[in-house]
Amino acid sequence: MSACDHVKVSINDGVRVIRMDRPEKKNALTIPMYDAIAEALTKANEDPDTRASVLLGVPGAFSAGNDIGEFANMAREGGLGESIIAFLDTLAEAEKPIVAGVDGLAIGVGVTMLFHCDYVVASDRALFKTPFTDLALVPEAASSLLAPRIMGHPKAFELLCIGEAFDAQSFEKAGVINKVTHSDELEPVTMQAASRIAAKPIGAMRMARDLMRKASVEDVKQRIRDEAQSFAQQLQSAEAQAAFAAFFNRK
Ligand code: COA
Repeated sequence: MSACDHVKVSINDGVRVIRMDRPEKKNALTIPMYDAIAEALTKANEDPDTRASVLLGVPGAFSAGNDIGEFANMAREGGLGESIIAFLDTLAEAEKPIVAGVDGLAIGVGVTMLFHCDYVVASDRALFKTPFTDLALVPEAASSLLAPRIMGHPKAFELLCIGEAFDAQSFEKAGVINKVTHSDELEPVTMQAASRIAAKPIGAMRMARDLMRKASVEDVKQRIRDEAQSFAQQLQSAEAQAAFAAFFNRK
């Protein structure tokens, strides 16, 4: 159901399950993966039988963030590029609830996409980290707007500017995730949450969610673009080039 081998999409009782599936690279995200996730979320908007979407990774890796190899292409092409902006817009504008189930690593956009989700379950071995400044980059996905809103400035600063790692308990305490469960239970608990949401009257769910989110969609989309400009500038920098080279030469 998806044109990309690394994203598997299935439909289960009104729930569209979108699984990032590139375990050999810890689910580092590539352009075809962004395109496939955006396509699945767009189909969720269009399909009257889809009542919620679920984002999942593989055991031990929700996502290691953007593929660092692709940062070099982006630097050459002058920025994040249309696919990533379209992916982020699709998250911001999603018309139906998005539930995420995080097991293991969530890094970079693997974390910032969660700020757009409506309900997040994490396993007790989940680890959340956004090493933007260590890579000489800046926050993306409107996280500079959404993280302080959800976590408060001090914790958001710790996450986005210092690149501190958060475990599942501290992310739950910070208000980013709803529930922590054992890793064996992660997927069943995530699917139960999605099914519970999907069973609600669809019109009321849509209206209630719109009331909570719609007023800020334009601000979120604007922040996605403002961040993308700074990101593009930093991608060209010598400090970022050095950080990417250090990642690939680390072994
Ligand atoms: N981009 C590209 N490749 C990545 C990647 C990323 N973001 N994250 C992991 N990989 C690749 C590794 O290069 C490695 O590939 P190889 O086997 O061909 O060498 C493979 O995935 C497994 O990763 P490895 O580092 O061996 O596993 P680990 O368990 O020791 O560490 C991470 C996992 C995720 C902690 C580590 O790979 C890492 O720090 N990745 C970068 C995360 C990041 O900075 N993302 C961008 C945020 S903006």
